Amino acid sequence: MKELVVATNNEHKLKEIRNILKDYKILSLKDINFCNSILEDENTFEGNSLKKATIVSKYCSKNTIADDSGLCISLLNGEPGVFSARYSNEGTDDANIEKVLKKLNGKESSAKFISAITIVFTNGNHETFIGECKGKIILEKKGKYGFGYDPIFFVEKYKKTFAEMKDIEKNEISHRRKALDKLKQYLENNL
Ligand code: IMP
Repeated sequence: MKELVVATNNEHKLKEIRNILKDYKILSLKDINFCNSILEDENTFEGNSLKKATIVSKYCSKNTIADDSGLCISLLNGEPGVFSARYSNEGTDDANIEKVLKKLNGKESSAKFISAITIVFTNGNHETFIGECKGKIILEKKGKYGFGYDPIFFVEKYKKTFAEMKDIEKNEISHRRKALDKLKQYLENNL
């Protein structure tokens, strides 16, 4: 089985990626003993995913992918965007959601999740794939699955939030699924 390192410490993302890239042996940062933290200071999802995958690929000399993702809310002019993980001072999922709802001030808004997946090969070549999932921000949390903003991200087609969907459902329509499908197709010809 071909190996790919995934440059993330987020167990939820890792699980989603393992579910979708079933034909690859997915190694985590723990598996390669990478313990440093990487500052995500680029101002685009693409920039951050390239930064993470490049640093980790150089460290382990293996083909490495990284996901940088976040939520863009129309009424908040695209916020929290690249700051999704640390939108509130506390940086916890609950505090981030609270900040969003406070800023929306009682109004629902259309929104989209964006995922940028970059693969960096051992020779330094790289490619980035973008996936989007459209939905709406609702004003109260619903559901117990998933992570991040899942409890307030409502998908019209399923009449459910991401947090009300089991893995299998979310993985059919998510931003990460769409980006990973593009990566998968690319890897069939290039790995
Ligand atoms: P990253 O690890 O810097 O890419 O941060 C991504 C952040 O965006 C996460 O910490 C979540 O807050 C949010 N996010 C990304 N993807 C999802 C998702 O599928 N569901 C809920 N929140 C997400």
